[in-house]
Formats: sequence, C-alpha cells, structure tokens
Amino acid sequence: MSTHRRGPDDRRLSPERLRSHQWYGTEGQLRTWSHNARMRQLGYEAEEYEGRPVVAVLNTWSDINPCHVHLRERAEAVKRGVWQAGGFPLEFPVSTLSETYQKPTPMLYRNLLAMETEELLRSYPVDAAVLLGGCDKSTPALLMGAASADVPAIFVPAGPMLPGHWRGETLGSGTDMWKYWDEHRAGNLTDCELRELQGGLARSPGHCMTMGTASTMTAAAEALGMTLPGASSIQAVDSAHERMAAASGRRAVDLAWTALKPSEILTPEAFEDAVTTVLGLGGSTNAVIHLIAMAGRAGVPLTLDDFDRVARTVPVLANVRPGGQTYLMEDFHFAGGLPAFLSRITDLLHLERPTVNGRFGEQVEGVEVHNDDVIRTRTNPVAAEGGVAVLRGNLCPDGAVIKHIAAEPRLLKHTGTAVVFDDYRAMQRTINDPELGITADSVLVLRGSGPKGGPGMPEYGMLPIPDHLLKQGVRDMVRLSDARMSGTSYGACVLHIAPESHVGGPLALVRSGDTITLDVSARSLQLNVSDEELERRKAEWTPPVERHQRGYGVLYDEQITQADTGCDFAFLARPGTVPDPYAS
Ligand code: FES
Ligand code: MG
Repeated sequence: MSTHRRGPDDRRLSPERLRSHQWYGTEGQLRTWSHNARMRQLGYEAEEYEGRPVVAVLNTWSDINPCHVHLRERAEAVKRGVWQAGGFPLEFPVSTLSETYQKPTPMLYRNLLAMETEELLRSYPVDAAVLLGGCDKSTPALLMGAASADVPAIFVPAGPMLPGHWRGETLGSGTDMWKYWDEHRAGNLTDCELRELQGGLARSPGHCMTMGTASTMTAAAEALGMTLPGASSIQAVDSAHERMAAASGRRAVDLAWTALKPSEILTPEAFEDAVTTVLGLGGSTNAVIHLIAMAGRAGVPLTLDDFDRVARTVPVLANVRPGGQTYLMEDFHFAGGLPAFLSRITDLLHLERPTVNGRFGEQVEGVEVHNDDVIRTRTNPVAAEGGVAVLRGNLCPDGAVIKHIAAEPRLLKHTGTAVVFDDYRAMQRTINDPELGITADSVLVLRGSGPKGGPGMPEYGMLPIPDHLLKQGVRDMVRLSDARMSGTSYGACVLHIAPESHVGGPLALVRSGDTITLDVSARSLQLNVSDEELERRKAEWTPPVERHQRGYGVLYDEQITQADTGCDFAFLARPGTVPDPYAS
C-alpha cells in the first residue's frame, strides 16, 4: 500500500520553476521576447499571465456530440475558477469522440485523442490541465494522454443526461433503445409510438445516464483520484455541474503550483481501486479494455486476471440499469453518488493514496448513503460477485469477458450449436433466414469484429435475436464475438475474444454446426472440436487483407494491440520517456 508522502499543498513551486516560465519568463532570450510579443497579439499584457500557472483546458466539445454539447459553456466555468485562483487559463479544442455518430466506431480514434492530448500538453507552455469529456472513449483517451505527458491534470466529467421519460415510464438511453426496438420488431409497438418514444429517450445534454461505458469510466476516473470527489455523477445540466467545473479550475491551479503529477496518483493501488469500483458498480465491459490501456500508460501492470480476481471479492451494490434493475444515474447521484458507494466498500480500498484532492480516504469519511435500494448494503447486494467474468478455453486462449449479471441465468451454463457469421454485414443480411435453423439454444458466433478486423472493435457484441424467436418471446441467447458491447447493452454475450479472428485466433476456425460450451462459474469457453481438427482448419485458413491501404488506418493496423492488452498502440504503451521540449 502506498502512503501519501507529501500533501499536495506543502511543496509549492516558485514561479521560476513553473514549466511555462521557459516560454514566457527566461530573460535575454529572443524566444521569450517573441512569445511575449505574441501574447500581446492575443490581447494580454504581461501582468495578466507572468508568474501565473498556465492551465490548459482541453475541450472535447463539438456541435455533433450531444454528450458534450454543454462543454463550451462549462469550459467558461473552468476558466472562471482558474482566474479566481490566480492562474492563466487557455482553452484547447481537441478531437471529439461521439459514440453516436463516429463510424465505424470511436474506438478507432481513442488512441488518436490520447496522442493529441499527450503531444499538446508536452509541446505548449502548460503547467496543469483540465480535461473535459465523458462520452465513452473520451475519458480513457484524455487520461491516457495526460498520464503519458505526466503534466498535472484534473478531469471534469461531462455528467449524465437527464433520465428519459415516455408515457409514465423512465427510460435509459441505449438500454431502452435496444429494448423497445426489439418490441417494435416483435410487433408490440407501433411506428407512431416509437417516434413518440424517440423524443423522450435523450432529453438533455450529457452522456448516457445508465451505468453504461460513460458513467463507468467517469466513475473509474473519480476512483483513480483524477476528479473532485463526487464529480462523476452530477447531471450535466445541474447547476452543481457548473460549480464543480469552476472548483476543478481552482484546483488545477493548486496542482500546477505543487506539480502533483498523474504519475503520483495513478499507482497500482489506484488501479486496483478503480477495478473494484467498476465491478462493484456492475459497470461496462469496455472498462476492462480501457483500464488495462490506462494502466499501461502509467506503467502499472494490470491484466484480465486482475479483473476476475477482484470480481470474486466485490459485490455489485449499484442498482443502476442495465446491470441493476431499476434506477438511473440521477438516482445514484441523489443516493450519495460515488463517495456513498465507496463508503460501503472501504475495506476493499486503499484509503491512504493521494488524489488530485488530497487523500483518497477523505472522500468517504462521514459520507452516508441516502437510498439503500439504489446503493445496496453488503447484505443485500444486486449480485454477490462483481459483474464481469473472464473466460478462458480453446476458443479464447488470451481470454474473453462476459457481463454475466446482465444475462439470463439459465444461459450461464450452456452447450449449443454454433451458427457462424463471418462479419457484421453478413449477419445483418442473413440472421432472419429460416435456412440457418437458429433456435433459442443456438450459439450465435460473430467474427471479423475485433480490434483489427472490425476495425476498431465495434460494439456489435449484442447480436440481435432473430425475429421469429423474438415473436416466440425469446429475449436472450448465448452470443460470442471478438467485438465489444455497448455498456448500455445486456444479454449472454461473450465479448473481446482474444486473439481475434482477423489475426487467426481460434474464433476464425469455428464452423456452423460445431458445438460450443459456455460455463461461467468454471470461467470456461470451449469449442468442442479436437485439437487435430483445429490444426487442419488452421492450415487451410488464409489471413484476410489488411483493412487500410493509406492514412491513419495504416498506422492503426500496424500498432493496435489485442483486447486483452487494452487495444493501445504498441509504440505508445511501451515504457520510456519523451524529453520536455525545453529540458534538453
Ligand atoms: Fe455518448 Fe452514450 S452516446 S455516452
Ligand atoms: Mg456506449
């Protein structure tokens, strides 16, 4: 267990030791003279910024990103806080990753935003950074970049949107979209009703308000110690969100003066606590990939097995959809938010480690849970074990994951006959073909959807139930893929099969008619085909052509790692330092 060696406030730098001093303050240098001339061009006199920490506000706002559309104003609140605390704020627009609109998937671009974040923080006069984001990949991307640049940083979570409403029912974005779309396909909902529901599903700016990937990752950021306490569940449009943004700006100035860097916060203990948190929240399976990638940037070894080990010790206490039955993020926030949740599992956490705000343990001291049905007690959990299990077997030698708490329990031990689809389009075209003979007991297998094959490992993992089975009332089946699944999805979906089929993983060798056995309690996924037969099939297998012939995609194809190691780029994940531009 690490100890908090120095409080963040007892080691204040002199202004000459601020990083930005090398741009603005060194006497007798043409470069400094020129930088100050350009500051005057920007409209600032020296007394407005000289000797003050420069705080970069990295903003993922865009007109096309409904989850971040409020961040333009929120950046103003951050800047207000920076000015109040005697800093000098500069806003940097950075790439926006919109889960809804970016195709084939924003996962293709997570590492690009991480690179942009890292290089921007390193190459400009920045003493500290405030990172604004929240839609799924934005959170890991910003934190991966900040960890690699190792510039003091604080994260401002975008906040969940308001709960959805339709005809007296509360709707969860994503989760209820899938559910009602299936009801429409099953003939239980008219076109007109579906259109009415569309208007009530997502009612305000903010990220998805279920415990999907966005809420899971912002909670992970808070548990890592990279946000102010309680920040991650504040609704995007709540006035408290603006106050939190301003307070984060003020805090960033302190971080700059004390040079409290991500490398001091992102320790093995911090990642262990983040894993405990996402599992106890019943959070998204995407967190497995993102946390492994983030840990890699911090030089912390974190593996799939760590998730499985921790999952066996932590109960799911957050009764938030889709892992829980009933509630949404607003309910979670008013029940006390993450500090209240953490107060129920303090025995599993490392309370002495540092955060951007002090000691981690201070965040949970004296905190109460205000609703025991939303944040359950240890004696009445949503599930006795963490929500994610890691599977091994001849079909996934490097692992696979399943969010078993979001599956029908009868399917957690199941043998069925495989129906294989080579890629997503083929699946879409043929899934309802009666010739395939799909029954409720079939195992649907999708390949060609991994990090390289997808490309970008799209969220195809919740394969649709064929129409004829939906009409018979079937709502869950065993489904396997090398894809990811949206954090708002559910079902007996085995995901992240590694190695993926595109690089010749055993998933490439499955044939329709083979039988497959899933046994979650034994943590096993087995293709019931002999090793000799698999060898024969492997010899006949031809690797597919690479997806990209030019551009960023070529770099992606060359560098992307498999799901079990976090899908980072190999050249970004490897250890080593990059010198500060003025350090040499
Ligand atoms: Fe942005 Fe769900 S679409 S978080
Ligand atoms: Mg999502």
